[in-house]
Amino acid sequence: MSKEIKTIGVLTSGGDAPGMNAAIRAVVRKAISNGVAVKGIKKGYMGILNEEFIDMDQKSVADIIQKGGTILGTARCLEFKEPDVQKYGAEICRKHNIDGIVVIGGDGSYRGAQALARQGINTIGIPGTIDLDIACTEYTIGFDTAINTAMEAIDKVRDTSSSHERCSIIEVMGRNAGYIALWTGVANGAEDILLPEKYDYNEQELINNIVRSRKRGKTHHIIVNAEGIGHSTSMAKRIEAATGIETRATILGYLQRGGNPTCKDRFYASIMGAYAADILCQGKSNRVVAYKHGEFVDYDIEEALNMEKSIDEYQYEICRKLSR
Ligand code: ADP
Ligand code: F6P
Repeated sequence: MSKEIKTIGVLTSGGDAPGMNAAIRAVVRKAISNGVAVKGIKKGYMGILNEEFIDMDQKSVADIIQKGGTILGTARCLEFKEPDVQKYGAEICRKHNIDGIVVIGGDGSYRGAQALARQGINTIGIPGTIDLDIACTEYTIGFDTAINTAMEAIDKVRDTSSSHERCSIIEVMGRNAGYIALWTGVANGAEDILLPEKYDYNEQELINNIVRSRKRGKTHHIIVNAEGIGHSTSMAKRIEAATGIETRATILGYLQRGGNPTCKDRFYASIMGAYAADILCQGKSNRVVAYKHGEFVDYDIEEALNMEKSIDEYQYEICRKLSR
C-alpha cells in the first residue's frame, strides 16, 4: 500500500528556464487544494543537503507566474551523484517530514529524483529546460520563451548584417542538442543551420554556400550555429579569410534563459505542475510528467531516461531546402 502523503517539497534544479515559476505556483496551489502541505526547497539538491526549506502557501506563489528565473533558486549540486550523499539527502527529507518531492529540471535532475525514490522518498519530475532535449516529452518548460527571445535577437543581427553586407554566425544554446538552432534557424530564414546531430564539419561546403548566395545578390548570410558545435568566433575568422566577406560571430548566451515566459510556457508549466502535484499526492513515485501526442502523460523515470530523441529527418530536410 502506498504511504500517506501529508507534506511534499518542490525544487528547481540544473539550468533555470522561463516558466519554472509557473510550475512552482501550480505545484503549491494544487497540492494545497488536495489538502497536502508544501515546502519550497532552495537551490536544487543543494537545498536538501543544507536543509533550506521554506513553508509555502497560496500567497507565497502570488505574482510569480509572469516572472522568469526561479523563486526557489537553482544549482548544479555535483555531490548529489554520490550514493552516500543521496542517502543523507533522503534522511534529511524524513527528518523534515517530507514524504515526496516534485523536481523541476532536465534529465540530470531526473537522475537525482530517481536516486531519492530509491531511498524511499517519492519523487515526480517535470521537464524544465530551454534545450528541449528530454526524450520522453515533446515539450519542455522554457523552450518556447528561449526560441522567441533568440528569434528576436537574430532578426536584429540580420538588420545590421544586411546593412554592412556581412556574413553573421549566431550561436544559440542547447547543450548537445540542436532544437533551439533548428527552430530559430527556420523561423529566422537562416541561410545555414548547424546542428550537432547533423553537422559533418565540412566547412568548405559552408564557404561555398556563402559565396553562392553572395553571387545571387544576397546582402547577408545568416548562419545559426548550435552551442554543441560552438567555436563561432574562430569559424567566423576562417570564413572571412576564405571568402573575403566580412564575418562576425554573436554568441547569444544566457539572455536566452531569462525573460518573462511566453503564454505557452506559462500554460504548459501550469498544467504539468498541477499534474505532478496530483500524482505525487496520490502516492505515485519515480515518474516524470511529459507531453506526448497532444496529451499530458507520465512515465517511469527509468523508462523515460532510456528513451532516445533525434532531429526529425523531414524537418531537417525542409529547413535545408527553405534556406537556399
Ligand atoms: P539538467 O537537470 O538540466 O539536465 P544537470 O545535468 O546539470 O542539469 O543536472 C542537475 C543536477 O541534477 C546536478 O547538478 C545534480 O545535482 C543532479 N544530478 C545530475 N546527474 C545526477 C546523477 N547521475 N545522480 C544524482 N543526481 C544527479
Ligand atoms: O541546459 C540549459 C543550458 O542553458 C544549456 O543550453 C547550456 O549548455 C547550459 O545550460 C549552461 O549551463 P551553465 O548555467 O551551468 O553555464
